[in-house]
Amino acid sequence: MRRLQGSDAADRSEAIQILRSGGLVAVPTETVYGLAADATNSSAVSTIFEAKGRPQNDPLIVHIADRGQAEQVCHLPVIARLLMETFWPGPLTIVLPRLSSRMIPTLVSSGHPTLALRMPGHPSLRSLLEEGQLFLAAPSANPFGYISPTRPEHVEQTMGDRIDALLDGGPCQHGIESTIVQVDDREEVTILRPGPITQADLAKFAPNVKLYNDSRDGESDARRAHPAPGMMKSHYRPSKGLILFPENSDPPSGDPQTAFVYLRKPPEFTDLAFWLSEDGSGREIAHNLFHTLRKIDNDPRVRKIAVEFPSGNEGVLSAVRDRLQRAAAPLG
Ligand code: TXA
Ligand code: MG
Repeated sequence: MRRLQGSDAADRSEAIQILRSGGLVAVPTETVYGLAADATNSSAVSTIFEAKGRPQNDPLIVHIADRGQAEQVCHLPVIARLLMETFWPGPLTIVLPRLSSRMIPTLVSSGHPTLALRMPGHPSLRSLLEEGQLFLAAPSANPFGYISPTRPEHVEQTMGDRIDALLDGGPCQHGIESTIVQVDDREEVTILRPGPITQADLAKFAPNVKLYNDSRDGESDARRAHPAPGMMKSHYRPSKGLILFPENSDPPSGDPQTAFVYLRKPPEFTDLAFWLSEDGSGREIAHNLFHTLRKIDNDPRVRKIAVEFPSGNEGVLSAVRDRLQRAAAPLG
């Protein structure tokens, strides 16, 4: 694996060469690191699924540099244009009706008639996309089902032997994945995955924005038909068992090898205590969440992880709750 610097133009041009020849490059975004390949090259796209161990029925997001690229591959309803103008570049992915153009192979969207597009805000990735005029398919750069990577060393540890290069762009600003909304031909907007752009942010521009309601909650991943593909109940899982305890309640006692993860710094704490923020700020909690879980997962003193579950749902906390519920969900 080549280690390249995102801020260095010569390194970016090397990354572009690797991508053009069908290689895999881990790239920084403002949310989490992505595992990128040329979205117009179906054999490169299939290596993404192989490297992650990801089933091919779980579609990928295509990262672009400008609106013109979006017009080449998707139909853009009026409300989608408005969301792009408002939130791009930034942590918003928009699922749109695909055009019949063959430019992006159907494997990218797992055969669905829609395509997920995102114009990322990280300056190094923006430069790379502009300089290469690329369409980059990129899921989060972690083995399928594991905790998403928010720092270059996370990518190196779990994907280093399966990629051609890693473009270092430092720690990711938001630390959780982009908000995903679907916009259909009737101009309806549905949030498929909560993230840094909140429901309240979206409601200012899309007054009827709805949250996707998974009414099949009782069913296991293996049996579900995935009307919102890829929204697995079990995801972001550390290799050690993770349990949740309600905010401001006493953490469960018992196993001395349990690590406790608090939302804010507790007044008293033991050796195996960690916290996600100094004062409970949702943005800080989100920023530190995956990094802290990975650190604990690698800590040989720890056997189990107990995480304080936020009671509030405001702002980005709704995304934090979503990720924690999936991290604690049983497999299957
Ligand atoms: O912040 C992010 O979005 C990161 C960075 C790298 O951009 N990417 C990311 O990708 O989180 P991934 O593959 O880990 O999650 C993308 C989600 C998956 O759950 C997938 O099923 C969903 O987006 N998705 C992709 N295309 C879709 C489509 N056409 N319809 C519905 N959901 C789709
Ligand atoms: Mg992912």
